[in-house]
Amino acid sequence: MQNLIEDLDILGSTVEHTEEVKTTQDSHKGNKRKLYIESYGCQMNFSDSEIVASILQGEGYDTTADITQADLVFLNTCSIREKAEQTVRFRLNHINGFKKKKPELIVGVLGCMAERLKTKLLEEEKIVDLVAGPDSYRDLPHLISKVDEGAKAVNTFLSKEETYADISPIRLNSNGVTAFISIMRGCDNMCAFCVVPFTRGRERSRNPHSIIKEAEDLFAKGYREVTLLGQNVDSYKWSQEENNKARLEKKEISSVVNFAGLLEMVALVHPDLRVRFSTSHPKDITNEVLHTMARHENICKNIHLPIQSGSSRVLELMNRGYSREWYLDRVKNIRQILGEDCGITSDMIAGFCTETEEDHRETLSIMDEVKYDYSFMFYYSERPGTLAAKKYPDDISLETKKRRLDEIIKKQSEISRFRYGQDTNKIHKVLIEGTSKRSEDFLQGRNTANKVVIFPKENKSKGEYVNVLVERSTQGTLFGKMVN
Ligand code: SAH
Ligand code: SF4
Ligand code: F3S
Repeated sequence: MQNLIEDLDILGSTVEHTEEVKTTQDSHKGNKRKLYIESYGCQMNFSDSEIVASILQGEGYDTTADITQADLVFLNTCSIREKAEQTVRFRLNHINGFKKKKPELIVGVLGCMAERLKTKLLEEEKIVDLVAGPDSYRDLPHLISKVDEGAKAVNTFLSKEETYADISPIRLNSNGVTAFISIMRGCDNMCAFCVVPFTRGRERSRNPHSIIKEAEDLFAKGYREVTLLGQNVDSYKWSQEENNKARLEKKEISSVVNFAGLLEMVALVHPDLRVRFSTSHPKDITNEVLHTMARHENICKNIHLPIQSGSSRVLELMNRGYSREWYLDRVKNIRQILGEDCGITSDMIAGFCTETEEDHRETLSIMDEVKYDYSFMFYYSERPGTLAAKKYPDDISLETKKRRLDEIIKKQSEISRFRYGQDTNKIHKVLIEGTSKRSEDFLQGRNTANKVVIFPKENKSKGEYVNVLVERSTQGTLFGKMVN
């Protein structure tokens, strides 16, 4: 899944998924107790923090952006690479300083690291009072009351049904224009390197009615873009039979909804509501989805299609379920159905178990063939309990992993410069997200391919669509001026 990149220099940042930290904004509902929440990892975690804030608001908690005002500090954590977990441990150490000054402060660890380590976290990090996995957030009020009574509290039960469909998220750190909608949870793929199936449990899809309602509500509040989130959106599947608890309303809905169907339903909410989605899996993305994208102008023309490795041999070891040839054929279909301007972005892992120089060169060469607009690039980090940790030795030296990663980053920079360059001297429809971070006199938004566009402010403001003639580009940003 793509992460939250808001700034301009996307490339070269190899640990974006773990380094990006978001904290809560203030919400003042006159409640007495204050929740401070920090989120790490992928968009799914950021989206979950909004559910947590909503559940706790019902229990008398307002959110605060000031940790010194907090009665409750939550870290919503990520386990995807070792470094992600180290960051959290470091942060807990820091929070210890606040707890010393305010012993009644409750410290909770939520999310993937909570799920992976369970009670071990309580043993290893003495400061932690509460551990809650991704499917146990409805239990938070009860867990907090246990801590209030002086006990430590843990719930890492993984559910086969929980989708939090009925909970209306409190939008944290919102620009008021773009929002995430979680459409499914968990993952049933078993990519050999990946910890997500263990931390997030079985895949389950959310009732489409609740998704449409959330999109409609967001539009009514002035939002103009939604991103549908799932670890593998192409396997979204909802049926009355599979989810007999969900009551169908009067609206016409076929009994089975697949991802293409859902995408179309969300696109029809309003032509001015842009729709994005992440992540697509190369083995599952269908032409039906591509044709649905082509039919609706408001479905953004950008596909995050992580390749991971360009070598079919390594892909097989990774258990990704596709080969280099299959992947290139999917890209051919994307280009045929959606054209050359459709953004294609990726994730790559350098130095997976047994990767040879030849395998590595195949990753570099597939990057040249596909010409990704941008990528998130990592070196392999072995995760306990995964297929790879059990079956293959982590046999590539750190030095080689880092060198290969550097080569991948350098290659991506060249390609991004080329791809962003291709956007110059063309007019782009841009949804304004706010003022540019670098200057109050400029606005910032994105084009359909998810590229950041900066242009002089004039009399426009966020949430509006404008046409921008792009005059200049870098490897991560387009610059231009508004035209009619
Ligand atoms: N569901 C998404 C991936 C979510 S994790 C998908 O299938 O694309 C985001 C990215 O982190 C992955 O695409 C992968 O590139 C990277 N990643 C996952 N596990 C990793 C590991 N053990 N070491 C290094 N990178 C990893
Ligand atoms: Fe991990 Fe693979 Fe699932 Fe993505 S599809 S979350 S990489 S197991
Ligand atoms: Fe996301 Fe990290 Fe969990 S990438 S699903 S928060 S392990």
